[in-house]
Formats: sequence, C-alpha cells, structure tokens
Amino acid sequence: MQHRILNYLIAAVFVALIFLTIVFVTMILPATTFQPVATAAAHGYNAQERHGREVYKREGCVYCHTQFVRYQDREMGEMVEAGDYVNETPHLLGTERTGPDLSNVGGKYPDAWHWAHVMQPRSVKPGSVMPSFSYLSDDDMRDLIAYLQTLGRERELNARRRAPHINEKAGAEEGAVKTPITWLEAPQELRDEWKRVSKNVDPDNSANANSGRGIYMQNCSTCHGVTGRGNGPMSSSMIKKPANFTRSFYGAYTDALWYWRVKEGVAGTRMPRWGRTLSEQQMGYLVAFLKTLPTDGSQASSKVEVTQYSQLDQPEPMSANYNEIEKLSELHASSPYIYGGGRH
Ligand code: HEC
Ligand code: HEC
Repeated sequence: MQHRILNYLIAAVFVALIFLTIVFVTMILPATTFQPVATAAAHGYNAQERHGREVYKREGCVYCHTQFVRYQDREMGEMVEAGDYVNETPHLLGTERTGPDLSNVGGKYPDAWHWAHVMQPRSVKPGSVMPSFSYLSDDDMRDLIAYLQTLGRERELNARRRAPHINEKAGAEEGAVKTPITWLEAPQELRDEWKRVSKNVDPDNSANANSGRGIYMQNCSTCHGVTGRGNGPMSSSMIKKPANFTRSFYGAYTDALWYWRVKEGVAGTRMPRWGRTLSEQQMGYLVAFLKTLPTDGSQASSKVEVTQYSQLDQPEPMSANYNEIEKLSELHASSPYIYGGGRH
C-alpha cells in the first residue's frame, strides 16, 4: 500500500517538474532576458487612449484582429519591430485574422467612419461579418476610436522620415511614385550579392530580359501565368495564390528585392527557393524580365493600390491563359522555348 502511494508521488513530482521546466523556459526566461528597446513607433498612451484599449480588450476585438505585420504581410503596411510593443501590456497581438490586421489602421479612416463602422459594420462595408457593437456607450466609443487612431501612427511618420532608397528610385521617374511599402527592402547580404551579380547581368538590358522571359515561361508560368497575373493553370489548386506581378506595388520593387524574393522563395507558400535550382545568372535574367511586366506604378503615391487582405484577385478565365500560350508558340516558333507545337 505504502509502495503504491510512493509510485504516484514520484510520478506526480516528475510531471510537476516537467511542467515547471516548460513554464521556466517559455515564460520566465524570455520575460527576464528579452527586453527590447523602445522604438520610435512605440506609442505612449494617454488616459483616454488607455481606456479605449481596455474597451478593445473587453469587447474581444483581439479575437478577430491581429496587430503585427511581418515580411510576408507586406500588403498590410509598415512592418513592426519588437520595440514597438514596449508599452503594450498585456499585448494585443492576436492570432486570428477573421478581420484585417489593425497595426497600421490609425489615420486610415476618419473618426466618423469608425463610429459608423463599429455601430454597424454593414453600413460602410456591405457583407462584413464583423459584429455590431452598437451597445457601447458614447464614452466607450469615443475612447475606442481614439485608441484605434493611435495604431501605427508613429510607425508611419517614422517611415516617411526615413525615406529610403525605394522612394528615391521611384521618385526619379515621372509622376514621382511614393509607395506606402517604404520599409520593404532585401536583407543587406542579398543586396551585396545582387551588386555582384548585376555586374555580369545588366538588369536593364532587353536581351537579358528576353532570356529571363524564356526561363520564366519554363519555370514560372504554370503558377504565375504567362502574363504574370498569378493565374497560371496550377494556381487553381492553390490556397495561397501565386503573386500577381501586375499589381502596382511591384512597380516600386528594386532589383535587389526581386532577386531576393526569387532566390529565397516565400515561406509558407508553394513558391520555391529558386536559389537552389537556378544559377545566379539565370536569376539575374529573371530580374531583368520581371521588371518589364506592366504595373500601374505611374500613379501618384496616394493612389498606389494596396490590396486588402480579404480582397481576392480576379483571375482571368483559365482558357485565356492557354490561348496566351498558343499565341506565344506562334510568335516564337523559332525560339528555343516552344510551347504546345512549333518546330521540333
Ligand atoms: C467576428 C470577428 C470580428 C470582431 C469580433 C471584430 N471585428 Fe473588426 N472586422 C472584422 C472583419 C471581417 C472586418 C473586415 C470587413 C469590415 O471592414 O467590416 C473588420 C474590419 C475592421 C476594421 C477596418 C479595418 C480596415 O483596415 O479596413 C476596423 C477598424 C475594425 N474591424 C475594428 C474592430 C474593433 C474596434 C472591434 C472590437 C470592438 C472589432 N473590429 C471586432 C471582424 C471582426
Ligand atoms: C508552384 C508554383 C510557383 C512557381 C512554379 C513559381 N512561383 Fe513564384 N510564387 C508562388 C507563390 C504561391 C507565391 C507567394 C505569393 C504571395 O506571397 O502572396 C510566389 C511569390 C513569388 C514572388 C514574390 C513576390 C512578392 O510579392 O515579393 C516572386 C518574385 C516570384 N514568386 C517569382 C517567381 C519566379 C521568377 C518563378 C520562376 C523561376 C516562380 N516564382 C515560380 C508560386 C510559384
């Protein structure tokens, strides 16, 4: 009898030890060792905004809205850093994006829009599944909106101050494109690598672009489509659709950024890491080609389209794609890249 109790006791001690180790490693250790420095984007809340934040928490907005923007979320605006959150206790990062990310929603809409939207989302967004919070008191509503308007404000101002090279590049062209995706640039080592690669492959040379076109048709068009609209035949079976390179923000991509995206692929999607398959030279040709795809980048900055998270592309019917392939084979019957016919 005594023995049995001892057995249970030993097991219990082990379980408790394992549990405490997990708590220590995943909670206590990070909390004490990870102390990011406040960035310029960290917002200090006043009393009203702090109360608005309480309302946000209390009403469960966090269950449907996240507050973080990573590399792969570039369509959602400025990217976040750990130091942006030093005043956020408890944090409201969220996990689920039933609605869009709100990290940068501050300044996007006037207060009156928010008022109407929170009262009755369908009044400004037909078909929205966001619930109505019309039962909130006027005070709660006002404070909640004051809080929403703080989100990402400093981050946006800071990004404008930084005015990185992407703006310079785009600004040099007519219409002075200023893109809202100012933070996006390739990591330093990739920029260095591109500097080296582009010495051998001039990305502004049309012969190089033509070579890239051939490589693209063979390796990329099944997903990205022959016209680059992301509607290749393979795309129909994919949940995360291939990129549509005719979107206007691609007009602001630098050569190094193209190179990086092609080389490293996109984690979490079916986009391969082409650096494992293609040579640097081939990827250079691809950069030269991708740059030539039409975007509407000539629009003024405020008009650059940033597609909403929930907004789907409208791919062309699949038959259009096959027709394009047919046409290409007619046009390039003598080129080495022959599709569906031509001389063999
Ligand atoms: C059941 C999920 C759900 C909850 C809970 C929810 N939302 Fe939403 N929210 C959505 C969806 C879906 C959208 C996109 C459609 C729309 O704009 O209404 C959205 C859109 C928004 C937008 C517009 C974002 C943009 O960039 O256009 C704001 C602001 C917003 N919600 C704030 C809130 C606030 C504040 C609360 C809490 C009081 C809240 N939401 C609670 C689902 C939700
Ligand atoms: C198996 C399908 C598939 C193939 C083949 C493929 N891609 Fe992709 N590609 C994707 C998907 C999916 C994404 C991710 C789109 C997203 O993140 O929204 C993507 C993203 C990209 C991006 C990043 C765009 C951005 O927004 O930064 C580039 C650049 C790209 N592809 C170029 C290429 C090139 C060049 C080739 C051929 C050498 C190629 N892809 C072949 C599926 C594919």
